[in-house]
Amino acid sequence: MKNAIETYDLTKVYNNNFTAVNSLNLEIPNKSIFGMLGPNGAGKTTTIKMLTCLIQPTSGSATVGGYDVRKNPDEVRNLLGMVPQQVSLYKDLTIIENSQMCADYYGVPRDERDDRIEDLMELVDIKYAKDKLISQLSGGQKQKASLVASLVHRPDILFLDEPTIGLDPTTKRTLWDLITELNDNGHTIILCSHDMHEVDMLCDNVGIINTGNLVAYDTPQGLKDSLLESNKSQLSDTLAEISSQDKVSKSTKTDLENINLRKMSVLLKNQNDEIIDVIKKSSHVKSIEIAHNGRLNLRIDAFDELAVQDVLKDIISSGGIVKSIYTEEPSLEDVFIKATSEVDENARA
Ligand SMILES: Nc1ncnc2c1ncn2[C@@H]1O[C@H](COP(=O)(O)OP(=O)(O)OP(=O)(O)O)[C@@H](O)[C@H]1O
Ligand SMILES: [Mg+2]
Repeated sequence: MKNAIETYDLTKVYNNNFTAVNSLNLEIPNKSIFGMLGPNGAGKTTTIKMLTCLIQPTSGSATVGGYDVRKNPDEVRNLLGMVPQQVSLYKDLTIIENSQMCADYYGVPRDERDDRIEDLMELVDIKYAKDKLISQLSGGQKQKASLVASLVHRPDILFLDEPTIGLDPTTKRTLWDLITELNDNGHTIILCSHDMHEVDMLCDNVGIINTGNLVAYDTPQGLKDSLLESNKSQLSDTLAEISSQDKVSKSTKTDLENINLRKMSVLLKNQNDEIIDVIKKSSHVKSIEIAHNGRLNLRIDAFDELAVQDVLKDIISSGGIVKSIYTEEPSLEDVFIKATSEVDENARA
């Protein structure tokens, strides 16, 4: 089986006639980590609910682990684990009691059950709260409890709907490690998140959903590369516009500058006027600004692959000692904003 999940024109129209997911076609390769991005209300949770057989699609279909969500919901449920956006554990039971119920539902052998729960509680660091009721836990602790309960039957396919929201930075990292480890052991992960860094770092593929449709799908790097490509073509369009005009408007000029230039920031150990002069004359450097903390903020050619290297060469050959350097690349956030900027207001309401 190549794909853990396939959807064919998957559609959900809610009772109030609102179309939340609109003919979604999506493939998620087996044993991969898939990141699902999209603005609030885009249809991510609705999609996950259909794939986990919590709600029925209105039309279209989907397979999970090769099973059809309509025809074989029991088989689908057996394959998957789910950490929902809203924690759905029994509030007047403890983590252990909730996890035991899940384990029994999925037929986890009794002699393994409690050890597994213990190990998972240890893994996400929640053992200290094992005697508390779910209703007595903090938001982040509830998330952890939800993870324990959803992992106890070792699901092949794990759905995580914004699992790190409200988690402290240390716990977030623990969860990221856990996701990576599960994936290394062959589990497929579907991760819904608004944390671009998280998605960029963890996911093999990313799909961006907007008003119920898939508007972009690629690897994180592929998405960023295509943004650069699209910026390049926007640049040539803008240049064409300029050549056809007598006077160039201020906004066209700003557009042009924004597309054409990117940031490079350098901190030198031995900054002096001579080196600054060399940098100013470096062929790719369009502007230079010395920040309060001594960093040199440069604007350089956005599309020349050798621009950074050439600027560095000039700095080093003039005797500059580089303490730190960073460049600003297009981020997944830039891709997200571009891909979701053209919103059909009618489809949102
Ligand atoms: N039970 C429901 N009845 C009617 N409309 C609903 C229902 N549940 C969700 N919707 C609508 O469907 C759309 C998609 O909701 P969904 O929860 O799938 O979004 P989401 O992408 O998960 O958003 P978020 O990032 O905020 O979690 C929203 O416009 C929402 O108002
Ligand atoms: Mg949601």
